[in-house]
Amino acid sequence: MKFYLDSANLAAIKKYNQMGVVDGVTTNPSLVSKEAGEFEEIIVSICKEVNGPVSAEVVSTDHDGMVKEAKHLSKLAPNVVVKIPMIPEGLKATKTVSGLGIPVNMTLIFSANQGLLAAKAGASYLSPFIGRLDDIGQRGMQVIEDLVVIRQNYKLKAEILVASVRHPQHVLEAAKLGAGIATMPPDVLEKMMQHPLTDIGLKKFLDDWGRAKKEKPSLTV
Ligand code: G3P
Repeated sequence: MKFYLDSANLAAIKKYNQMGVVDGVTTNPSLVSKEAGEFEEIIVSICKEVNGPVSAEVVSTDHDGMVKEAKHLSKLAPNVVVKIPMIPEGLKATKTVSGLGIPVNMTLIFSANQGLLAAKAGASYLSPFIGRLDDIGQRGMQVIEDLVVIRQNYKLKAEILVASVRHPQHVLEAAKLGAGIATMPPDVLEKMMQHPLTDIGLKKFLDDWGRAKKEKPSLTV
């Protein structure tokens, strides 16, 4: 399974990228608005840092505006993926933009049918927002379960990019279902690394080593 960081924070992206666990990055207007600096500069810096795909979202809501923005964004770096919202004009724009050879990540997907339509229109990535469905009392993971089956049934090329991930359990469940990618905020990735028994175990190893060194100063690493 590929892990993307759902963040526009360059420091966080660098930190986790150095650990070799970041396959790509997704941003959205809300995430970019939290960071200092210009939108395009932020995207260019992220694209230089990460080898994999970096999603940058359009803010127009009509076909022509989205296509214009998509063409512009795709020129910022070779690994830019254009994020387009799952609205009727967005489907039309996805058909045009993907036809130009620009990869599209269709965002704000809340049902498997929307995902199926996005794939049909030519999106390379389908982004179902599972956390926001959980928030309103629906089972977000059901959309992932359905899309994984649909993708296999019809051998769809589009990858399922699990989004609006709120905790490590979301990542684990999506991995068990066979979703290709999960994009997560840095704090979720951080939590995935942590286990209290790892810290307790390491402390004991180092304490034992320290005691043994006192008794046998010849011990070296
Ligand atoms: O990037 C899109 C998505 O992951 C947003 O997540 O937590 O704002 O619902 P969230």
